Amino acid sequence: MATLTMYPDDERLSRGERSVFNLYLVSAVALFVLMMLLGLAMRMSQGNWLALAPDLFYRVLSMHGAGMVGTMGLVTTAVMWFFLRKYVTLHLWAFLANYVLFLLGALCIIGSIFIGNYAGLWTFLYPLPSQGMVWSPQSAAVFMVGYLLIGVGMLLFYLDAAAGIIRVFGNFARALGLQWLFGGQIDPSHPKAVVAGTMVIIANSLGILAGAVVLVLYLINIYDPQMVLNALLTKNLTYWFGHMYINATIYMGVIAVYELLPRYTGKPYSVSRPFLWSWAASTVFVIIVFPHHLLMDYAEPRWMAVTGQIISHGALFPVFLVTAYGALANVYHSGMRWTMPSRLMMLSLFGWAAGIVPAVIDGTISVNRVMHNTQWVPGHFHFYLLLGVLPMALALMYHVVGSRRQAPPDSGADRIGLPLYLVGGLVFVMAFLDAGRLSVARRMATHLPEWWPTDQAGAIGAALVILAMSYFAVRIGAGLLKAPADGDRAHAAG
Ligand code: HEM
Repeated sequence: MATLTMYPDDERLSRGERSVFNLYLVSAVALFVLMMLLGLAMRMSQGNWLALAPDLFYRVLSMHGAGMVGTMGLVTTAVMWFFLRKYVTLHLWAFLANYVLFLLGALCIIGSIFIGNYAGLWTFLYPLPSQGMVWSPQSAAVFMVGYLLIGVGMLLFYLDAAAGIIRVFGNFARALGLQWLFGGQIDPSHPKAVVAGTMVIIANSLGILAGAVVLVLYLINIYDPQMVLNALLTKNLTYWFGHMYINATIYMGVIAVYELLPRYTGKPYSVSRPFLWSWAASTVFVIIVFPHHLLMDYAEPRWMAVTGQIISHGALFPVFLVTAYGALANVYHSGMRWTMPSRLMMLSLFGWAAGIVPAVIDGTISVNRVMHNTQWVPGHFHFYLLLGVLPMALALMYHVVGSRRQAPPDSGADRIGLPLYLVGGLVFVMAFLDAGRLSVARRMATHLPEWWPTDQAGAIGAALVILAMSYFAVRIGAGLLKAPADGDRAHAAG
């Protein structure tokens, strides 16, 4: 069971751990601000407030997509590491290796885009990368190698975490708590972080392996174009990887809510049978849900489209419902300590909940055929990523900043920054959703004048988000780099 002690001893970081953890978090907040600025440039360009030439727009879109998804993966890996290490042995070298491989991969991606002009987007759909007209096949290859490096780093981290979990719990089934699905006395101290971590390791390792297969196929195709790939198979593998990777960020990020929320409410938040059932179901669902990205591919076998439709209605609900219900029950009648980490956690639950709604609507075949190529889709995923997952990671960061002075942060500037982020975020995502309603095409550098009003509203919302995020980045960066207080060992009052 997650502790009620605000800053427990077993979460203290050694000097080496703190350095690596800080590297993750400081890099992540800096990258988020930079990638958001790229996003703002795109939104302003779509709204005719800035002139980005189309080739530059698609390079910026490729950088923003790959950069945001990668950074979200990086920061939520740090969330998982921070809590999982309390229950199983994790080796710092694996955590550091993941960071170094991420950096090397990021350098390849940046080089391929800004030196090699690669603009084939983060989803690199066949045969676009190898047949670009403004970039060479070699720069596409460097982009693929960048992804491979990032994937290898994450797999290393997962292998280390898997070994740690198996050493303590015997196997994945017991770590997921499957022995208690149909009866028996559930061990209330069974850590939620282990259940969520195990699910992520199983599902995302498969996704990353699918990605590795397709990336290697691309590399072969780039250097030996005689070897033609099957476009449908390639697309399936790409989306399996991409969808799984970004979904894993929610499941890693939510560990922060499971671990931290009870400390701020002062109420225990233990494992229950519905909790175990929902994580078990989601472990399967999340692996097979990706065909909902391919409902418009008429060559896709019919049974896969049907699976995509049914599972996408079912997949998001188990873990989300059990988390939302559990978290709200934990907050109810609790005398919650309303400081930055607790506010960010509540925001994250709202963002996750509200972001799911347009996703489920889009996962319905009849709607999907009309909406999937519109800005409805960036509307849905920006909703749950910007207002759901990112606040989960920010909650941990603020919590750790608080641990340095033994009190949860809650300055006047924090209290202004959060509403600014929320209002800006809502304006930004609603502008995308409204554009979807108006059938504005997604991934377009040039927009019709009729589309400009939603683009411009989106740009205003984005500017507010960036203002708030820049403040958070400086605040968190400065807080993390501060040496821990002497009294670090002492526990803050509950
Ligand atoms: C202020 C914050 C942000 C701004 C201004 C922004 C802006 C944009 C814009 C304008 C697009 C292109 C939309 C279109 O299809 O027309 C886009 C795409 C994208 N954004 Fe963001 N974004 C922001 C935050 C984020 C965050 C936090 C994430 C995820 C962690 C993210 C991930 C993505 C991805 C993956 C794409 C590519 C989608 C594709 O290839 O179709 N963005 N963003």
